[in-house]
Amino acid sequence: MRVGFIGSGRIGGNLARLLVAGGHDVVLSANHPDGPKRLALELGQRAAAMSPLDAIAASDVVVIAVWWEGFPDIARDYGAALAGKIVIDPSNPLSERDGKIVPLAIPDGLTSPQYQLRRLGGDVRLVRTFGDRLAPDLLADGQRGQNGGERSEMRYWSDDPSAAEIVRPLIRDAGFTPIDGGALADSTNAGE
Ligand SMILES: NC(=O)c1ccc[n+]([C@@H]2O[C@H](COP(=O)([O-])OP(=O)(O)OC[C@H]3O[C@@H](n4cnc5c(N)ncnc54)[C@H](OP(=O)(O)O)[C@@H]3O)[C@@H](O)[C@H]2O)c1
Repeated sequence: MRVGFIGSGRIGGNLARLLVAGGHDVVLSANHPDGPKRLALELGQRAAAMSPLDAIAASDVVVIAVWWEGFPDIARDYGAALAGKIVIDPSNPLSERDGKIVPLAIPDGLTSPQYQLRRLGGDVRLVRTFGDRLAPDLLADGQRGQNGGERSEMRYWSDDPSAAEIVRPLIRDAGFTPIDGGALADSTNAGE
């Protein structure tokens, strides 16, 4: 599969590393092109760096690995291109204020991915996963599973069962045992 990334930082970068090791192609993008270009060089032939719009167009599945508060910008700039796409959402409702990580309130009693889906627009086929552990742990746990060690569980949630079925093998190929957590209304965030 070809997986696009909007955001190629800590979580996006490490998930890209795992997916390339698992036999997939990745298309990396960010605000500034230098980070994705460097990572694509590191990852080799299975990786390319593009603009976010080109990455979305070139991919079967798109990971939105930007800060939780960045989703309105993503919706504004790329919402039309994302309509109908399968989107992986690893974002957690956290922000950085004065150097400290602080939790953000989610309006209307929604779970985080329900709210992110609302911000992106209902046409997006959103699957919440890969957001439950720190980026270095994601890489270490996935690599252990890929190398024949004990596989860590990775839960996923979606209101679109056929989108979840497409994401499920990506979770497995990234080195984890996929666990169906149910609908977006049932989802939890990191640490819960
Ligand atoms: N870090 C963790 O341990 C961790 C764990 C679980 C979940 N998460 C979640 O994963 C998400 C990403 O976190 P992170 O730690 O990976 O963040 P990060 O290291 O700061 O990376 C953010 C990435 O998003 C890009 N970006 C930001 N705004 C953008 C825009 N408008 N268009 C395109 N690209 C944009 C940045 O590009 P530039 O660098 O070019 O600005 C950067 O590549 C967050 O929602 C977080 O809650 C993180």
